[in-house]
Amino acid sequence: MKLKNCHNIDDFRGMAKRRIPSPLFHYIDGGADDESTLARNTKAFDDFDLIPNGLADVANIDLSTNILGQKVNSPLFLAPTGMSRLFHHDGERAASRAAEKFGQYYSLSTLSSVSIEEIGGLTESPKMFQIYIHKDRGLTNELIERCKKANFNSLCLTVDTIVAGNRERDLRTGMTMPPKFTPSSLLGFAMRPRWVYNYLTHESFKLANLEGKTEKGSKEAIPLVDYVNSQFDTNLCWDDAKKAIDEWGGPFAIKGIMSVEDAKRSVDIGASAIMISNHGGRQLDSSPAPFDLLSDIVEVVGDKIEIICDGGIRRGTHILKALALGADACSIGRPYLYGLAAGGQAGVEAVLAKFESELIRNMMLMGVNKLSQIDISKIRKR
Ligand SMILES: Cc1cc2nc3c(=O)[nH]c(=O)nc-3n(C[C@H](O)[C@H](O)[C@H](O)COP(=O)(O)O)c2cc1C
Repeated sequence: MKLKNCHNIDDFRGMAKRRIPSPLFHYIDGGADDESTLARNTKAFDDFDLIPNGLADVANIDLSTNILGQKVNSPLFLAPTGMSRLFHHDGERAASRAAEKFGQYYSLSTLSSVSIEEIGGLTESPKMFQIYIHKDRGLTNELIERCKKANFNSLCLTVDTIVAGNRERDLRTGMTMPPKFTPSSLLGFAMRPRWVYNYLTHESFKLANLEGKTEKGSKEAIPLVDYVNSQFDTNLCWDDAKKAIDEWGGPFAIKGIMSVEDAKRSVDIGASAIMISNHGGRQLDSSPAPFDLLSDIVEVVGDKIEIICDGGIRRGTHILKALALGADACSIGRPYLYGLAAGGQAGVEAVLAKFESELIRNMMLMGVNKLSQIDISKIRKR
């Protein structure tokens, strides 16, 4: 299969599955426990319909908007995802370059395989850095200082990963960070010799932002769950989020907000945005779909804070539905990682192009030519 034959995200997913070893594919693809939240994240969009209007002069479609103070070409941005180098040897470089090409916001994870400094210097387009707070609290301040020097535009603090979710696919496939050839993972790697060749002939995997700070995860291969549970701080509370906001002093998002109460608290501590997110169904299974929470949260804080809907977005129409319910933007994780695994930078670009063309076509079909025209009158619960 070739990239040009991928017509939707499921096609990219299929191509990724054929390209990379099964422990890595399932690491991207999987969710927590029974994966019910993972499935619901996308299904939630089906309960709503978009209302089209005709004869609306849609010769010019403008997808541009502002996210966290930056003008971008589209309301879609690339959510932070760790360890991208495992899926393609260009890793985060490929994804951030693709985002730049499309004028989209890119976010880099604390657990990225390319450093803050390198990504900061690589592209001109807007960049967010995502923070996980480690037990070594000094690390957080260091990361924030590094982001300031590297000209990142915003930060986000992920609050839904206090402990690692129970991802049973990773237990079955023997997924570790970095990958290790174990009896359970060996066959998965042996069946993808091209990936193995590229993995062995390019720079070795590392947690680039944490080099020298934590041996685990870069040199010593351990399951991600052991990394999270041994390194992340379970004492994290709202005061810590407030301190991080003050320390940064610029646009700041809280990622992993899943209740009206926490959305209000985010406003109270001075966050600029919330990302309504259940980590793509990878953490608390049985948590609601972000899309299902949107209306409640928008009603209470919609005019006080930017709202980003994250999780389950696989179509341009999903983005339009989220905007109609009051989201300011949407973000994607797996879709661009499928593209990355399928074809590096070209694969991510192909995914972003697909979303862009779906947005343009569907806005034309709805009879709107700019995002500000997409409001509650354009959506109906079935
Ligand atoms: C492979 C993978 C790695 C991820 N790594 C991180 C991470 O390091 N930090 C973070 O805040 N979220 C992480 N996420 C969650 C994404 O930022 C995002 O919330 C989620 O993927 C959105 O759901 P979607 O995959 O359905 O688009 C990761 C998701 C995936 C699939």
